[in-house]
Amino acid sequence: SRRVSIRDLRTAKERGERWPMLTSYDMYTAEIFDAAGIPVLLVGDSAGNNVYAHADTVPVTVDEMIPLARAVVRSTSRALVVCDLPFGSYQQGPEQALETSIRIMKETGVQAVKFEGGLPVVESVRRIVEAGIPVMAHVGFTPQSVNALGGYRVQGRGADADRLIESALALEEAGAFAVVLEMVTPQVAAEVTKRLSIPTIGIGAGPDVDAQVLVWQDMAGLREGPLPRFVKQYGDLRGALTDATKAFADDVVSGSFPAEEHTYH
Ligand code: KIV
Ligand code: NA
Repeated sequence: SRRVSIRDLRTAKERGERWPMLTSYDMYTAEIFDAAGIPVLLVGDSAGNNVYAHADTVPVTVDEMIPLARAVVRSTSRALVVCDLPFGSYQQGPEQALETSIRIMKETGVQAVKFEGGLPVVESVRRIVEAGIPVMAHVGFTPQSVNALGGYRVQGRGADADRLIESALALEEAGAFAVVLEMVTPQVAAEVTKRLSIPTIGIGAGPDVDAQVLVWQDMAGLREGPLPRFVKQYGDLRGALTDATKAFADDVVSGSFPAEEHTYH
């Protein structure tokens, strides 16, 4: 069976069908999410604070994204795989954005790229789409600009709402096939969703969008510590892995592992 295409996603919007998206950065999660029927997987630069142990996404490099994206592509057969352009790999303009996108497409096998920003990146979106590379846009709270935005704050409040809606419309017009809306008011998200014919993907954007995305470690309960309001934990992987680790350690110390059945003769 073939992979999900950007055309399938537009059709889903026309039919009013919602869909889930998750991040993935490795083989087993990619296999599991693909088999579970998640249609779109994002190799996010959230790898910065979920894989590489940085405080945020700012330090992530293209060289760090590529092996993760390759692994996710190799571990899936059905999902459309999208790779983030990390901070510094596209902000210089359309030329740099296209060069980075081409490199990622050729070296990873992903089906699309994603990068952050509104009006300032519209020409980059146009250029990359014209080159034959599907682009997912990302507006609202854009984590690569956390230092300029003054922390993790809801976007699109008050006078900001019009600018956000205008940005989303311009990104669609430039050829983006979908747009992520991160931490925006549900009213703005609903308005953008109504006015665009490409799908909107919410994260902290309320229910009136076409799709929802979460970082998989948040969704599955692997991450520790205070979580953003928009996260729902659907599992307790951290608890399960802690229990397994302690049981293994106890068995080694007590001598009950390995047992007869784990021993060659
Ligand atoms: O990097 C990421 O995980 C993202 C999603 C949260 C949209 O950009
Ligand atoms: Na990202």
